[in-house]
Amino acid sequence: MTDKPTPEPAKTESGTSRRKFIAATAGATAAASALPIESYAQVAGSDEIKVGMIGCGGRNSGAIVQNLTANDSARLVAIADAFQDKIDGTGPRGQGLPIIQKQMEKNGSLKQVDVPESRQYAGFDAYKEVIDQVDLVCIATPPGFRPIHFEYAVQAGKNVFMEKPVCVDAHGYNRIIEAAKVADQKNLKVVVGLQRHYQNVYLEAFKKVHEEGLIGDIVSAQCWWNGSRPWIIERQPGWNEMTYQMRNWYHFVWLCGDHIAEQHIHNIDVINWFVSGDSAMGGHPISAQGMGGRAGTEPLTVGEIYDHHYVEFRFGPEHNNVVMNSQCRQIKNTWRRVAEEIHGTDGILYLAEGKITDLKGNVKWQHRLPRGEKDPNPYDVEHEMLHKHIREDIPINNAYYGAKSSFTTTLGRLATYSGQEITWDEAVKSDFSIMPEVFAFDAEAPVQPGPDGNYQLAIPGEWPLPWKA
Ligand SMILES: NC(=O)c1ccc[n+]([C@@H]2O[C@H](COP(=O)([O-])OP(=O)(O)OC[C@H]3O[C@@H](n4cnc5c(N)ncnc54)[C@H](O)[C@@H]3O)[C@@H](O)[C@H]2O)c1
Repeated sequence: MTDKPTPEPAKTESGTSRRKFIAATAGATAAASALPIESYAQVAGSDEIKVGMIGCGGRNSGAIVQNLTANDSARLVAIADAFQDKIDGTGPRGQGLPIIQKQMEKNGSLKQVDVPESRQYAGFDAYKEVIDQVDLVCIATPPGFRPIHFEYAVQAGKNVFMEKPVCVDAHGYNRIIEAAKVADQKNLKVVVGLQRHYQNVYLEAFKKVHEEGLIGDIVSAQCWWNGSRPWIIERQPGWNEMTYQMRNWYHFVWLCGDHIAEQHIHNIDVINWFVSGDSAMGGHPISAQGMGGRAGTEPLTVGEIYDHHYVEFRFGPEHNNVVMNSQCRQIKNTWRRVAEEIHGTDGILYLAEGKITDLKGNVKWQHRLPRGEKDPNPYDVEHEMLHKHIREDIPINNAYYGAKSSFTTTLGRLATYSGQEITWDEAVKSDFSIMPEVFAFDAEAPVQPGPDGNYQLAIPGEWPLPWKA
């Protein structure tokens, strides 16, 4: 994909666009932080829910519409992105405010979008301006930033919808878990965009496995996200290294976590969920080993992520020492499959097909709807559930399982990059971080290409584990 060069926003010291910085939010901030903990949920009783948007790309442009549609009393009042042109919808893979306005107008609900220029913020710190003045925030930036944004939202006492993955390193994982505990104390409602948890076929299958015992005891699991690269943003003249990496974030580990995190998380998360049998807290394997690399034709000038990973994850004795084989590949013209499969002593669950067979292939259960009926869209349901839990003041916090599944993908990446077997405990305890200390467009990017313009791939057997480097 090509895209046009875009001038960077004029920045303040904090990285926030000068043009947008002026909106006075100090009052709202002070009011929010002055609330006693038990009052944070009182948005449940008020008529209007002020919604904020952080990250104005593809996902959030849809998520915001879904969020507003789930509750007539929700109003989008403030938005932030690292780049002004993503807010305006004129940047690479343009979406942003115009798309949201168009969709809400089509739905006859344009009045729910109230974002004058004074409440649009650009830059690395723009998220604070938004969070400070809303009741609920929808976060869909590259996942490297998620722990920072989530932690800030929780500290400010705001309800959260955040996209997966929620972290790309151990420090991020630990921050999310700690912030999740604070969110519980403050009675905040948190939904994570692992939408299979809100999808009927998965929910029904979970009951068949855990309430009706249709597959017996789980012994192993297999999952795939095999397809092709979703997008590449070409480097433009005038972009410095930080700008290129921020624009082409999918291809840099500190921002994206590699595609085992970015996309394959959905499948890995399902296996964690079904093997643990815990829909609220989730679960995770205790070790991983695997292999991966770059086997396709994508030039090394694009970025540093692999194009395939194959990981053997092992769960602990409390989960019957189940083995999960996970494969993800993004190479054109190769076998495609996005699915999860779970084998038990009495049957096999094929989630993509919504069916359970016995070990000989005879169908024991098939997800079917009456003629003419359709399952609800899980992307809608997750927002309906968030608003319902806020309105009725029912606890909900997906951050725990979101963090465990996100860090499972990190564990897999560490295994394929290093070629070593990695344990969950050592990786979590290391608290390693791959995020830069300074966020600014003129700061040094965490990785640099060589003189030939190529990025260095991790070489198994040589790549040092971050806490041993
Ligand atoms: N659940 C799903 O099915 C699903 C589908 C698509 C994307 N997603 C997730 O949503 C997230 C975003 O993906 P996308 O496809 O919308 O990407 P995108 O590139 O279209 O949008 C991300 C936006 O975040 C902005 N951004 C980057 N850093 C920022 C920062 N520090 N502060 C504020 N804004 C920042 C970018 O400029 C960009 O506009 C990813 O984590 C992705 O995995 C989930």
